[in-house]
Amino acid sequence: MPVILVTGGNRGIGYAIVQALGTRIRDATILVGCRSVENAREPIMKLKELGIPEIFEPVEIDITDDASIKAAVQTVEEGYGKLDVLVNNAGAVTLPKSDDLTELRNNWTEGFNCLVTSQVLVTKAFLPLLRKAEWGRVVMISSARGSLARNKSIEKMPPTQHWLYNCSKAALNLVTIEFRNAELREVANEMDRITIWAASPGSCKTGFNSFRGMKDPLEGAEVTARLLESRRLEIPSGTFWEFEQGNFQQVPW
Ligand SMILES: NC(=O)c1ccc[n+]([C@@H]2O[C@H](COP(=O)([O-])OP(=O)(O)OC[C@H]3O[C@@H](n4cnc5c(N)ncnc54)[C@H](OP(=O)(O)O)[C@@H]3O)[C@@H](O)[C@H]2O)c1
Repeated sequence: MPVILVTGGNRGIGYAIVQALGTRIRDATILVGCRSVENAREPIMKLKELGIPEIFEPVEIDITDDASIKAAVQTVEEGYGKLDVLVNNAGAVTLPKSDDLTELRNNWTEGFNCLVTSQVLVTKAFLPLLRKAEWGRVVMISSARGSLARNKSIEKMPPTQHWLYNCSKAALNLVTIEFRNAELREVANEMDRITIWAASPGSCKTGFNSFRGMKDPLEGAEVTARLLESRRLEIPSGTFWEFEQGNFQQVPW
C-alpha cells in the first residue's frame, strides 16, 4: 500500500496531483499536505464526492517552518512507518513592490527560501522514511521556466517580471541532480532504491498566476502521474519531464 505525500495538496496543481494519483495509483494512502488541516477538509470532501475510493488524510506541513517539517515527519512515521512518494509541490513567490534594495533582498531571500531551500530541507527530512519504502520516489515540481536551454530563446520563453521564479526553478533543477549524485549515494545501491525527478506541470490556471494559466491543473498533474506510474528504472533518476500537447517528454536542462 503506497503512502504518498503531496505538499501544498489542498489547492491548485497539488490538489490536481492528489486527485490524479487517487484515481490512478491503486490502494494508495494519499497524504494531503496543507498549512492547516482546516484548508484540506473541503478538498478532501470533494475527492470523496467524486467517488475516489483511495484514502486521503490531511498532514499539516509548512515547508518554511522547521518545527512543522519535523512534526510532519513524525506524523507520517507514527502513522505509516515509511513514505513511498514525496511530491514537493508547495510553493509561493511574490513580486517585489519596488527596487529598494532591502525590499529586493527580502523578496529574493523569501522566494529562494520557499522554492529552493525548503524543498531541500523537506526532502532531507523525509529521506529516512523514503529509505524504509521498497522504492522511494521524489518528484520536484519545477517549471520549464527553470530550463536554461529554453530561456536562451525569447521566442520559446517570453520574458516575465517573475524572473526570480525562473532562477529558483533552475536552482531546484540542479538540486534534483545533486540529490541523485550526492545525497542518494550515501547508502550502497541507494541510487536504485530512491529515484528523484523534476517535473514541469506547464502553465496552469491556479491562484499562483491569478488563474491566467493556459491549462486545467489536472492536465498539469499528468506529468507527475506518468512518472509515478512508470516501472522501476524505466525512467532514469535525475531527469526532468513535462507532458505538453499529448507528449510525455524530457525538458532540456
Ligand atoms: N501554476 C502554474 O502555471 C505553474 C507552472 C509551473 C510550475 N508551477 C509550480 O507548481 C507548484 C504549485 O503551484 P500552484 O500553481 O498550484 O500554486 P497555488 O495554486 O498558489 O497553490 C500553492 C500551494 O502551495 C501551498 N504553499 C504555499 N506556501 C507554502 C508553505 N510555505 N508551506 C506549505 N505549503 C505552502 C499553498 O498552501 P495554502 O493554501 O496554505 O496557501 C497551496 O496549497 C509550485 O511549486 C509552482 O511553482 C506552477
